[in-house]
Amino acid sequence: MLKELHAANKVLLEFQRLIEEKTCNPWKGNLRTGVDLGTANIVLAVVDSHNRPIAGASCPSTVVKDGIVVDYLGAIRAVRQLKEELESRLGTALTHAAAAIPPGVNPGSVRAIGNVVESSDFILTGIVDEPTAAADALGIESGAVVDVGGGTTGISIIEQGKVVFSGDEPTGGTHMTLVLSGAFSLDIAEAEQLKKDGAKESEVFDAVKPVVEKMAAIVKGYVSKRPVESVYVVGGACSFRQFENVFEKYLGIPVVKPAAPLLVTPLGIAMNCKFD
Ligand SMILES: Nc1ncnc2c1ncn2[C@@H]1O[C@H](COP(=O)(O)OP(=O)(O)OP(=O)(O)O)[C@@H](O)[C@H]1O
Ligand SMILES: [Mg+2]
Repeated sequence: MLKELHAANKVLLEFQRLIEEKTCNPWKGNLRTGVDLGTANIVLAVVDSHNRPIAGASCPSTVVKDGIVVDYLGAIRAVRQLKEELESRLGTALTHAAAAIPPGVNPGSVRAIGNVVESSDFILTGIVDEPTAAADALGIESGAVVDVGGGTTGISIIEQGKVVFSGDEPTGGTHMTLVLSGAFSLDIAEAEQLKKDGAKESEVFDAVKPVVEKMAAIVKGYVSKRPVESVYVVGGACSFRQFENVFEKYLGIPVVKPAAPLLVTPLGIAMNCKFD
């Protein structure tokens, strides 16, 4: 388990560096793009034919909510903008992309996600389930992958390298922000800022802990039916230092948080972009 995660962490930190420094790596073979249309962030990840991270870009977004496109034109505009930014950095066109959806999204919404990617001048290679993409980026053979994003907590259970179950339920980072807004009498934007202020984590975390326990309860409901030896947490809402400790206490199973948890799912989506 640890050896696999060590390799994945190296790749994730490299991907994070590429995004932060707005730079790119040399590549071999085809460039493959992953488009993560999240509730809080849109992320484009580019890998080469060896699954090495080559470039990435992201922007905050409100155009998609839990896998449902709520602002179609806005979504296309955002994806096109990130695509153009990456293409100018790379000096070449990005042609093919995979997209992703949270488990359980209805077929109409899946089509809408695909249409956004195609209308952004990509050839769509496929649409993958989000926690499955995360498991691929982590390269794990067994365990539960829990993606706590902006709107929902998604879970995939992996056995012998295959996804045997996936599910998704409301409760994500947005709910933490709402709790903080109420507890500290702040508007939503102020509460969101406070939530991400690492220097204030101890007071913030006391307030959001019940939300973390609710997320753990969702996971417990699934893993009590399909026992696992470890739980991997990814997604922006698990950024708190104490997050995995609360999960571990609640679940009684080792909980592992990879490096750059926000980037695991986007990178996994790019790894699922397959074409010749
Ligand atoms: N440092 C941080 N501390 C606490 N929360 C954070 C931090 N950074 C990001 N978040 C929260 O993580 C959430 C975004 O995570 P992520 O990008 O994984 O979600 P998403 O993919 O857009 O949403 P979803 O997967 O639910 O559609 C937001 O609610 C954001 O406030
Ligand atoms: Mg997400």
